[in-house]
Amino acid sequence: MRIEHHPILAFARGRRITFTFDGKAVEAYEGETIAAALHAAGIRVLSRTKGGRPRGLFCAIGKCSSCLMTVDGIPNVKSCVTLVQDGMRVESQRGPGKIDPGFRPRVPPSQTREAEVAIVGGGPAGLSAAKALLEQGVKPLVFDENPHPGGQLIKQTHKFFGSRAERAGTRGVAIAQELIAEVRDEVELFSGAQVLGLYEDKGRTLAVAHAGRLLLVQAEHLIVATGAEERFLLFPGNDLPGVYGAGAVQTLMNVYGIKPGERALMVGAGNVGLIVSYQLLQAGVEVAGVVEAMSEIGGYHVHAAKVRRFGVPILTCHTVVRALGTDRVEGAVIAQLGPGFQPIPGTERELIVDIVCLAVGLTPSTRLVEQAGAKMAYIGELGGRVPLHDEGMETTVPGIYVAGDCAGIGEASTAMLEGRIAALSLLARLGRKVSEELAAAQPALARLREGPFGERPRKGKEQLQSLMKEVACGKLP
Ligand SMILES: Cc1cc2nc3c(=O)[nH]c(=O)nc-3n(C[C@H](O)[C@H](O)[C@H](O)COP(=O)(O)OP(=O)(O)OC[C@H]3O[C@@H](n4cnc5c(N)ncnc54)[C@H](O)[C@@H]3O)c2cc1C
Ligand code: FES
Repeated sequence: MRIEHHPILAFARGRRITFTFDGKAVEAYEGETIAAALHAAGIRVLSRTKGGRPRGLFCAIGKCSSCLMTVDGIPNVKSCVTLVQDGMRVESQRGPGKIDPGFRPRVPPSQTREAEVAIVGGGPAGLSAAKALLEQGVKPLVFDENPHPGGQLIKQTHKFFGSRAERAGTRGVAIAQELIAEVRDEVELFSGAQVLGLYEDKGRTLAVAHAGRLLLVQAEHLIVATGAEERFLLFPGNDLPGVYGAGAVQTLMNVYGIKPGERALMVGAGNVGLIVSYQLLQAGVEVAGVVEAMSEIGGYHVHAAKVRRFGVPILTCHTVVRALGTDRVEGAVIAQLGPGFQPIPGTERELIVDIVCLAVGLTPSTRLVEQAGAKMAYIGELGGRVPLHDEGMETTVPGIYVAGDCAGIGEASTAMLEGRIAALSLLARLGRKVSEELAAAQPALARLREGPFGERPRKGKEQLQSLMKEVACGKLP
């Protein structure tokens, strides 16, 4: 199940280690997550619900809780973002898991840190914000819950579209390495550090789970760049192991060099669905087909052409109606859609696949800003509920800024610019002279959204700005 030859990536695997899963020894490499190592060993069922339904990996970035396992006696550990260690005892659990009555966890005392600025999220938005702050001598603390920072970029093997200034033409993985290299020497970048909540306690305090202890970070200003999470689809069997979000499939293949299965059905022909289909083919996984509910392909035709060249059919006006299997995906039923997106009886077709990959859109990850009390609004064009923010990316809570996909689904290029704008606006608040830099960044962002693919976010941001004006003049509570 490990990918040994890849046309673009070379996998530098760590030291060989052994851990146990339900009492049996499993080999892994240092630097892999528990879920990735289990997938490499062919294990898909990670746990079970109280009623016995199997549970497996879905998002692979710590967002959905589908991969909870008991690790060294501690239940409900997210196995998709927890690195495997030599001698670790990993157990599947049933329902919420149990703690042995005799178990006494070793909890080290919490630590406290102070920071002028804290950034939550080490993707393109967060890292670009960090760089802009550094240019003015402000050193932020950056927290990212994934073991490898870089956000979505670390799994993008294709050359990016967008603007040259925002590194278009460079592969996503390389952009991530560049961004990290630009800040690494001067910024404290905590990876595997999940920001659990934000509290107004002796000032603004972030609670961060890091390296087995609680870190309390008192930060005067905050930039939230927490990205997005994958949308789900309703159909029977959608909870079977083997139904993955497209990002999870990418994480397994492109971060850990592990094949998610042998034959896939891709659901969604937007850019993500098309790009991930091509990446599956590059990893040696057969793609049985791509189904798209709309009458047109949503992504760039250049990506569609690459997939078609491999003989993969792209079926518009089609969807998945059922995933088949008892403990894992063994097949899927697709059907043509008629008026009202209803399946047309008699058009069902069964495919033999072990992966159903959902690429049906993203929704902003906004829990932290919501908890902070920022005013929110549902804006479909931006992917769902988003925090209202001004042109400088400041939310309705003074001193809390947002950037990137958590402020409305966009692209890495716009995420980087929004991160920069958030940092510059914050610097202006701190009294730094950055008006020239801000005056250059704002129009660059508008230019990026001028093309046909920028239309949705552009309209969404316009809607958001008019709501923000209503807040400013007291019309919106
Ligand atoms: C298949 C695919 C192809 C794409 N192709 C392109 C392209 O060609 N060009 C382009 O411009 N864009 C592309 N994009 C879009 C681009 O990758 C995203 O828009 C971009 O990564 C968003 O950046 P971000 O920093 O807002 O979020 P992310 O990249 O998602 O980063 C957010 C980070 O926040 C961290 N985080 C979240 N919550 C917490 C928490 N509570 N505590 C600590 N850390 C947290 C996460 O671990 C993550 O690392 C593509 C996306 C996909 C999925
Ligand atoms: S939280 Fe681990 S798969 Fe989603």
